[in-house]
Amino acid sequence: MHHFEYRNGELYAEEVRVMDLTEEFGTPLYVYSTATLKRHFQVFDSALEGLRHLTCYSIKVNSNLSVIKLLAGLGAGMDIVSGGELYRALACGVSPEKIVYSGVGKRPDEIKEALLAGILMFNVESLQELEKINEIALGLRKKAQISIRVNPDVDPKTHPYISTGLKENKFGLDSERALAAYKTAMNMPGVDPVGIDCHIGSQLTEMGPFLEALEKVLQFYEELKGMGLSIRYLDLGGGLGIKYHEEEPPHPAQFGEALTKRLQGLPLTLILEPGRVIAGNAGILVTRVLYTKDTPSKHFIIVDAAMNDLVRPSFYGSYHHIAEVTTHQRTPIKADVVGPVCESSDFLAQDRALPQMCAGECLAVFSAGAYGFTMGSQYNSRPRPAEILVDDGKIILAGRRETYEDLVALERGDSGG
Ligand code: LLP
Repeated sequence: MHHFEYRNGELYAEEVRVMDLTEEFGTPLYVYSTATLKRHFQVFDSALEGLRHLTCYSIKVNSNLSVIKLLAGLGAGMDIVSGGELYRALACGVSPEKIVYSGVGKRPDEIKEALLAGILMFNVESLQELEKINEIALGLRKKAQISIRVNPDVDPKTHPYISTGLKENKFGLDSERALAAYKTAMNMPGVDPVGIDCHIGSQLTEMGPFLEALEKVLQFYEELKGMGLSIRYLDLGGGLGIKYHEEEPPHPAQFGEALTKRLQGLPLTLILEPGRVIAGNAGILVTRVLYTKDTPSKHFIIVDAAMNDLVRPSFYGSYHHIAEVTTHQRTPIKADVVGPVCESSDFLAQDRALPQMCAGECLAVFSAGAYGFTMGSQYNSRPRPAEILVDDGKIILAGRRETYEDLVALERGDSGG
């Protein structure tokens, strides 16, 4: 469900004609829909209304300040993985007691910043990290609320790069080591073990792996209770998938219902860290055709967006639906949509049935609201694109396009030369 639709052959983002945006702001251009973000958050959050819960939007997915502010305004907490994300969350007025901090490599300075901010909980991923948090907290005369990230060894049945809950993955601790970590934590004056955490992967399209992980975590919860620990938070991470192409992921309502059924009555606050399901289909990447080229083996549509703007197709072989911004009813051909970057892996689609395109026309790459801009780079010295947030008929420049000067600003030194 999203608010990008065609009217008389023209793509609209809510009440705004996308072609008008390209004329005003240029291409490549990210366009996000407020109504879609709101709807996705509310549908997800309300699916859990039967449980005491906190929905912490995973900032890494789309960390634009306007997006964070919008979601925080709806009551979202935040899932962060770096000091930079903490900075963004605080800059948007997110209450620290709604922030959870995950990640295997939290730096001491980042831990300190989060402690001083007073975040809700650190999701701890190793014994050494636990020791570091304890040490820093003691130095600050604070007590850090923590959970240990348990790696339940469950196959999430997703792309191997985004599986995180298998025993060979770098994330979390297996239950034996996690148990030992809780025992250690109980005797540490600088930490307070208040939660259990688990995140098994991203773009999950079946309920099975979530439920399997939940069972293992609940079993673990019982063991902790037996040890005299009073766990209050159960963080199940993010990972609910979306429809890019032919996937049929569970609807958030179905997801919420299954969790509610299993968790109702337990004295726990459920924390979830959804990202993609909130922002993925709330954004498109709009790109202009520069040239077309026929070779003996391929038809290429060469566009002005590239792997530096949206890396998912190159990096994971991901499918993103691509369609004309203004439809022309032309016969489809099989084409590769490629960008200007000097790599053969620079493609947005391969062997895709698309209408014949002419230079100057625009294409929209759908489902680009999650892991799009945030995974972008300036490779080939390409300034990062502008980001627009549409709200009904209102157009908000949520991020201006970088200039050539932006590309070199940090390299000039104080003299400016
Ligand atoms: N919580 C933790 C601890 C995570 O590591 C992640 C994602 C999330 C929450 C949010 O997961 P989501 O609800 O979005 O699935 N770049 C890849 C995805 C990487 C996922 C990283 N962790 C992609 O473009 O598919």
